[in-house]
Amino acid sequence: MTSARLVIDRDFTVGPVPRRLFGSFVEHMGRCVYTGIYEPGHPTADERGYRRDVLDLTREMGVSIVRYPGGNFVSGYHWEDGIGPADQRPRRMDGAWHTIETNAFGLHEFAGWAQEAGVEMMEAINLGTRGVEEARSLVEYANHPGGTAWSDLRIKNGAKDPFGIKVWNLGNELDGPWQIGHKTADEYGRLAQEAGKAMKLVDPSIELVAVGSSNAHMPTFGQWEHTVLSHAYDEVDYISLHAYYQEHDGDTLSFLASANDMDYFIESIIATADAVKAKRHAKKSIHLSFDEWNVWYQQRGDGGDQPHMVEKAEWREHPRLIEDEYNVTDAVVVGTFLHSLLRHGDRVTIANQAQLVNVIAPIRSEEGGPAWRQSIFWPFARMSELATGQIMRVASTGDRFETRQYGDATVVDAAVTYDAERGRVVLFVANRGLDEAADVALDLRGFTASAVTRAEVLTVPEGGDRHSSNTEGAQDVVGLAPLAGAGVDDAGAVRASLPPLSWAVIEVAVAEA
Ligand code: AHR
Repeated sequence: MTSARLVIDRDFTVGPVPRRLFGSFVEHMGRCVYTGIYEPGHPTADERGYRRDVLDLTREMGVSIVRYPGGNFVSGYHWEDGIGPADQRPRRMDGAWHTIETNAFGLHEFAGWAQEAGVEMMEAINLGTRGVEEARSLVEYANHPGGTAWSDLRIKNGAKDPFGIKVWNLGNELDGPWQIGHKTADEYGRLAQEAGKAMKLVDPSIELVAVGSSNAHMPTFGQWEHTVLSHAYDEVDYISLHAYYQEHDGDTLSFLASANDMDYFIESIIATADAVKAKRHAKKSIHLSFDEWNVWYQQRGDGGDQPHMVEKAEWREHPRLIEDEYNVTDAVVVGTFLHSLLRHGDRVTIANQAQLVNVIAPIRSEEGGPAWRQSIFWPFARMSELATGQIMRVASTGDRFETRQYGDATVVDAAVTYDAERGRVVLFVANRGLDEAADVALDLRGFTASAVTRAEVLTVPEGGDRHSSNTEGAQDVVGLAPLAGAGVDDAGAVRASLPPLSWAVIEVAVAEA
């Protein structure tokens, strides 16, 4: 048995929970759009071709904002190809994913889907092959009420009201040599500055995300962010972060501690952005948009083609790409990623799990067939539902374990929120121990806890193991179940015993003491 003691104090808060932390990502890649969110002719499709089964799961998951249309795809995309009469739209070669893009789905279809799903739109512009002119015309098309060429074209195409898109990505992963239109930090920083300036001249209310490093292992990591922000600090509001993790060569302990690396990554970028702020004597702080994060088995190669296999294949429409199947371990790790994002919610105010459906996704769907929840669906759905109010600082002591990649880590990893209006504290907590249960005690200073009102746990299912997962034929193998025995002790602390390798949520009714 391992143990951990967590302490929160009513007066020690990080800040309000940013709703945009529960974002997702829809890219024109593989089967995320086609046969994912959009499949005319599917038994559940509505008159516009949106799959209702996927819409229902998106709403159940509590997704707040969706980034679109890429990803690597956007760096060669012409947004104009996706507007106007569908039968007149061009078929194009998408070089990013070696795919034929039919353009049956475009900006209007995304706006309609986002409205149905109840999510905010987050739009990426192409700064790979295009530039300032495209950027400002797209903002005019999407956001200007009318009376100009681009806004009137939107109205002619069926959208009387502007889409009102607030958050815009200034390109995608342009530090990466694989990116169409890859740039140096100086080239990109200047372009982002000028594109951002022109976009805000059209609509000053928009918020702009500059491209940060594609991952923390890029040779230009750190210097890239510094240079880009040195050019574009005044024009942009966010810098982006991307990170994907997987279990390498059976090193499960490092994989379980991946959120340590996410913490480190976030804190490094905050430090870099603040260094530029200090140098410029700037008043505003740059926020972080962690707009791609997830587990991605880049080496495993199952569930459809991996990117390195794609270019050898025939040109196809919506091929099956990187459809990773997630297990219990992945769900626990994803839970800890959400903890990390929440703990940094004063600076990370947008985050998008990549991606929403089929492509490294919490939701899976089959063409003409069902849609179902992967294991990683659950921590996201519960945190989106219950993380409201204020993020609390958590002081934590307890057992630790050594990892090869990320130093030592606490066995128990947690995040806590307090919602004064609802009178509840919610503990989100993972036991990263593979073999032992963990005894957790949460001390609530400045509160009187009356009862645990809800306690659920995701762990290894009976008869299964840590590799158990949900599949088309067995959709509910891994999920949340009641956590027995969680309660408030005589001293007013919350106590729970977490099974080995588990992620849990414990809601507690409280009053301020
Ligand atoms: O999400 C899959 C891909 O990963 C995205 O297109 C790209 O931005 C990242 O490298």
